[in-house]
Amino acid sequence: MFEGGEDIHALIFDPGQYSIRVGYAQEDTPRADIPAVIGVAPEAKSNNTASKPADQLKYYTDTTFLNISRANSEMISYMNNGIIENWNLFEKMLDYCYANVIQSSAENHPVFFTDAPLNPRVKREQLTELMFEKYQVPAMYMATNAALAAFANGKFNALVLDSGASYTTAVPILDGLVINNAVVKSPLAGDYITLKATEMLESMGIDLTPAHLIAMKEVVQDQEKPKFIKKTFTCPPTDSWMKYMTKRTVQDFQQTAIQISATSPSHYEFPTGYNRLFNQQHSQLTEGLFNHETLAVDKIVVTSISKCDLDVQPALYHSVVITGGNSLMKGFTERVEQEVRAKMPAAIKLKVRAVKGTTERRFEAWTGGSILASIGTFQQLWVSKRHYEEVGKHRINTL
Ligand SMILES: Nc1ncnc2c1ncn2[C@@H]1O[C@H](COP(=O)(O)OP(=O)(O)OP(=O)(O)O)[C@@H](O)[C@H]1O
Ligand SMILES: [Mg+2]
Repeated sequence: MFEGGEDIHALIFDPGQYSIRVGYAQEDTPRADIPAVIGVAPEAKSNNTASKPADQLKYYTDTTFLNISRANSEMISYMNNGIIENWNLFEKMLDYCYANVIQSSAENHPVFFTDAPLNPRVKREQLTELMFEKYQVPAMYMATNAALAAFANGKFNALVLDSGASYTTAVPILDGLVINNAVVKSPLAGDYITLKATEMLESMGIDLTPAHLIAMKEVVQDQEKPKFIKKTFTCPPTDSWMKYMTKRTVQDFQQTAIQISATSPSHYEFPTGYNRLFNQQHSQLTEGLFNHETLAVDKIVVTSISKCDLDVQPALYHSVVITGGNSLMKGFTERVEQEVRAKMPAAIKLKVRAVKGTTERRFEAWTGGSILASIGTFQQLWVSKRHYEEVGKHRINTL
């Protein structure tokens, strides 16, 4: 229980492999959507990052700062498979959020964190400890991102198919609660598509030089050799920075040009100025999402529902919610619907729901948290700092 009164100004944090979404409860969208990568560089020039003590390193966060190439900088993700892994760097992200996005001290705001399905208990405890001990938050709550996405869709019973960057999960929700033993997780998601797209573009001989390395380019005709001049640097960009920026370049291509079951080709121009049409043949790389024997994104829906009690299965098929950035690929929802229909019991009705808006779809877990944390009856569910001090970090596991 947390008695913070009417205006508690709770914060919602939705950490993911691709980005962290952060903002205030009751608002429609997060205040910020920040890449889940920190640039780490030595303070002084020409010194190696690896040999420097942590207090002599500088940390760079958010797109504008990450896009600048710095001597000896390493681009490091604090996430691994959608789960917080590097706590030191995650703290840098939280520090940045409080100082630049929230612009208020952590002690003033209860925090609501979304959680990945099947996140190990120890990770939840570590986060709880960090927030209460270091950030001195007055209260905290955690909930599974898929359940919050269902909630944002006005559903308490649903099968949520969340396809993000590092994983796709099928998560059954009954009466608002996750049925943990029926959750199915697959690594076939956005990062897999980025990898396949990189392989395809490289095999086509397409130059993936990122926009921030290009000083000047000319307009060229469709499929004509690009004409561009690269920027010159006194210190050349690090391999790690190049890898990060190239990945961002391919992700832009992925988000703009890749379609599942493409009906009309899409035209795409790379940062070098090279441009061409990408057609059905180029979209074949998405087939990997659908042809794995057990982990295909449509199969995990059927497997997950089949692990639930027989009497709830029709309700779950009747309420499949599709969410996550990777599901925004054109044709994803339709293809999942078609494949699931072909594999499920014929007597049951299938209803698939996916919100149209690009940002809404990526922010659904955040939005679900924002709505939940604003409800009057929810306020008694906060774990207060006093309660934490009485019972310890294990308390959060009962949420
Ligand atoms: N419009 C789009 N079309 C296609 N793919 C997109 C689009 N927008 C984002 N993506 C892809 O979606 C993925 C990011 O999705 P999302 O923001 O849901 O991930 P996340 O929650 O941070 O990661 P995870 O769930 O793995 O922790 C990336 O692979 C990105 O390239
Ligand atoms: Mg996610």
